[in-house]
Amino acid sequence: MPLDFRYRRLAYVALNVTDHARSEVFYRDMLGLQAAGCAGENEYLYRCSAFHHDVMLHEAPLAGLRRVAWEMETTDDLARLQKHFVALGITVHTMGNDYCSALGLPAAFQITEPNTGATFEYCGPMINATTPYTPTVTRIVRLGHVVLGTDSFDDTERFFIDTLNYRVSDRIDGAVTFMRCFPNPLHHSLGLSKSASKRLHHVNFMVTDMDDIGKAMYRARKLNVSVVFGPGRHPPSESIFFYFLDPDGMTLEYSFGMEEFPEINPRPPRRLPLALESIDYWGAVPQPQFGQGGPIETRLTTS
Ligand SMILES: [Fe+2]
Repeated sequence: MPLDFRYRRLAYVALNVTDHARSEVFYRDMLGLQAAGCAGENEYLYRCSAFHHDVMLHEAPLAGLRRVAWEMETTDDLARLQKHFVALGITVHTMGNDYCSALGLPAAFQITEPNTGATFEYCGPMINATTPYTPTVTRIVRLGHVVLGTDSFDDTERFFIDTLNYRVSDRIDGAVTFMRCFPNPLHHSLGLSKSASKRLHHVNFMVTDMDDIGKAMYRARKLNVSVVFGPGRHPPSESIFFYFLDPDGMTLEYSFGMEEFPEINPRPPRRLPLALESIDYWGAVPQPQFGQGGPIETRLTTS
């Protein structure tokens, strides 16, 4: 099958939270997101960029991942990807006009990723919000990446490489794979982590400056936010990182800096040994709660 579709970026992440009023305060005052209205009943949008939205929070009995959305370069790329899934026998759910318009999308469809059961949404280019984004407690540059835990690690990796044309940037031997959505240059927009169950591992937000990491440390202390790893520096991507928990115990990350890959002749992926030194240069040790992002909701959104 031709892999003739091109991604632009990780578009947005939708999370289930158990108490939206509580999470709203945290995502505003600790993480630094700006409220951006509602897409529907119980679907609260947030921004950290000029885009229409970057995060959706949905109140649910169980916290975890609701869906992950990927933006294609053009609506033609979206149409080619849809044909690709149909040819492979993967069921595609086309999202209706009301749904797309509430999310600032020209078109979108969803599939169930067959290995993790996660809902993956694919969309055409998202519109910008009508008002500028003004950073508050930190200067987030973008929603960075999402990492999924999978109990079928090798099959999940193969699916993203062979079927979805993600490119591997680096691996930590048999445990973590860092992937970019081709031809997006960022070292990883998606990570896979070998896990005993299918789950969200963490959601990352990239910040503009080293000071954003330092300020986050003190802000977390002041707001009694649990820090579960870092600050430190990841050898695979060169990113300086800082991981903390949202009110439901889901792991979020700030990172500063990331290797970028050219579209043509990128360096080959490296295989780092399975050791703490492969995830941090500085000697930080993750807390047991690190990467406990909650379960993956497997129900597709109805359009
Ligand atoms: Fe990360």
